[in-house]
Amino acid sequence: MLSLYLLTLAICAVAVVASPPVVRRNSPITLPFAKVISTTGTRSIVERDRTRYNALRAQAKTTTSQDQATNASANNTLVSYVINVGVGSPPELFNLIIDTGSSNTWVGADITHPYVPPFSSLTGETMGAVYGSGQFSGPAVKVDITIGSLQVSDQIIGSAVEAFGFNDGVDGILGIGPTGLTKGSLFPDESATIPTGNNLIPEHLFAVSFEPATSNPELNGELTFGGIDDSKFTGSITYTPITSTSPASQYWGIDQSISYGTTAILSQGSGIVDTGTSLIGLASDLFSVYQTATGGILDPATGLLTVTEEQYANLGDLTFTIGGTDFDLTPNAQIWPRSLNSAIGGESGIIYLVVINLGTPSGFDMDFINGQAFLERFYSVFDTANSQVGIATTPFTNAETN
Ligand SMILES: *[C@@H]1O[C@H](CO)[C@@H](O)[C@H](O)[C@H]1NC(C)=O
Ligand SMILES: *[C@@H]1O[C@H](CO)[C@@H](O)[C@H](O)[C@H]1NC(C)=O
Repeated sequence: MLSLYLLTLAICAVAVVASPPVVRRNSPITLPFAKVISTTGTRSIVERDRTRYNALRAQAKTTTSQDQATNASANNTLVSYVINVGVGSPPELFNLIIDTGSSNTWVGADITHPYVPPFSSLTGETMGAVYGSGQFSGPAVKVDITIGSLQVSDQIIGSAVEAFGFNDGVDGILGIGPTGLTKGSLFPDESATIPTGNNLIPEHLFAVSFEPATSNPELNGELTFGGIDDSKFTGSITYTPITSTSPASQYWGIDQSISYGTTAILSQGSGIVDTGTSLIGLASDLFSVYQTATGGILDPATGLLTVTEEQYANLGDLTFTIGGTDFDLTPNAQIWPRSLNSAIGGESGIIYLVVINLGTPSGFDMDFINGQAFLERFYSVFDTANSQVGIATTPFTNAETN
């Protein structure tokens, strides 16, 4: 038994993060979810994002029907956004991390909340994946999935018998990255991919609304399957095609340019939009330019840059130009919520920046990761049918709550 799992893990080492099940609808489905703050400290949030990035780049490789869009709420836990997903019939509820950077869905991360799959649901295969900061393996099962009013029949998910690297209260992952990312996650059929149901939802897209947190957890996220929630954004949505540059092209990857105030940081590069990354990552040379321009000092305790009150007052906008539109991260959007400093191992009264160093130079792997700190200021649309990502401003783009 043990050797089987070890073998499975070895095989899965090339498969990355986990893919969620969705259903076809003719109209959209929206789900609320909440973001959870980690209690493991700020330093670990940086390490977690950087480790995730390294896993993403290393691992890049190559049903039912519904009529309406579904909204689902998500809890913002600071490190992750967590959504309630029903597994089986009748549905048993699990708290799953919303992850656009992986495509396997699985449960069983919390040993205090095990999932016991019916024998008839076992497919005979094993599923596993290695993430930046954790991994899982266990039998693959074919079960019905329920997210809000969305039901997906016969979705193949993992029932973990081994998992680590996940916070208490998290049961697993809802992986909603491109289907190709599931390749290598099944054993013995390593070449198989797992249909995620993404192509079954109406319009073949989903949309994400995150908001800055002032408490932990805070039920302030919403995921819409098969539609766009007009109440969650302002102005129009700018769409940009999935980048052709690898490895970002294998994820929800886009091209963008970056500037800070009047300082050019990146004329054009590729990276990803990722709900599974907490902060905003820049390639090492780009990060250096940002650090110099802001005057931030690296804080050993948290791994984040800190700035003084005076430097904060003088911060410029960090601008991501996507599809010809400028998306400005205001000074307030560039700092960690000050009321939540202790949640990341920080001290009260200190100002921490949320832009981190990915640790590899630009033009090498990914130049940037637009994680939760970005998505809390801009609405995002993940359009599978048209291979594009949409970004729009929101009522929180210029919020001062941080
Ligand atoms: C759910 O999503 C729809 C779009 O399909 C939207 O019109 C509606 O306002 C959303 N409901 C809530 C409660 O946000
Ligand atoms: C959000 O978190 C609260 C408090 O832990 C919990 O009661 C609730 O069920 C969660 N909701 C979702 C959608 O995860």
